[in-house]
Amino acid sequence: MSAEYSPLEAVVRARRSVRGFKPDPVPQEVLREALEMAQWAPSNCNVQPWRVTIASGEARDRLSKAMVDKFYSGAFDPPDHPVEIFHDEYRTWQVDCAKRLYGEMGVERHDKEGRICAMARNYELFDAPHVAIVCMDKKFGVGTALTVGMWMQTFMLALTERGVDTCAMAAMRSYADTIRTTLDIPENHAVLCGIAIGYEDVEVPANRTRQPRGPLEDNVAWRS
Ligand SMILES: Cc1cc2nc3c(=O)[nH]c(=O)nc-3n(C[C@H](O)[C@H](O)[C@H](O)COP(=O)(O)O)c2cc1C
Repeated sequence: MSAEYSPLEAVVRARRSVRGFKPDPVPQEVLREALEMAQWAPSNCNVQPWRVTIASGEARDRLSKAMVDKFYSGAFDPPDHPVEIFHDEYRTWQVDCAKRLYGEMGVERHDKEGRICAMARNYELFDAPHVAIVCMDKKFGVGTALTVGMWMQTFMLALTERGVDTCAMAAMRSYADTIRTTLDIPENHAVLCGIAIGYEDVEVPANRTRQPRGPLEDNVAWRS
């Protein structure tokens, strides 16, 4: 981490999505510390709606196998929430993001099999030794999902600060039923996201990916 930034900014800038992990597990106390810190995420009316399951060891392996088997058979579970399609300038960013990642992985645009294997890496959890399944009650909608997102970033930053790498995985939403059944998660919990957790394997080409950000003016309007 660079000395030119404040400690907070250095952590925010150091976090990036890692898509290839070493098998080494993260000590339980490190995971616990990060989870304790993330408890301090703000939430509307302080309802603290995040419901999180951390899977490691055999539970992690069972989950990954169940998802990979389904994925290669072409089956998906019914989504808990409507699937979002990125349009217009969002689509441009999405394509750009995929090009950058697949470029590093050596997967060409028309290499259908390569793209399927690249997608399957999500369900292989990028070989991470741990996965967090991030849920909220099915009765909640976009307002509460916003809060859970704040929890997620707090958790990922807490891990970054401790030298632990992550990748958020919306791809987990395609297997909500499989995840609930395999990890014994209550039926009324909607799956919002997964987070692969572990230590970066720097030999994995996907980890050379660096995703840029647009200019502030694309996102922020000033009024006075
Ligand atoms: C809510 C959320 C869901 C994501 N889902 C996936 C995913 O399913 N698979 C994946 O490889 N990356 C996923 N990402 C990672 C994004 O692609 C990544 O954050 C973005 O390209 C910016 O790159 P950076 O995280 O390295 O800064 C997700 C990120 C977020 C915040």
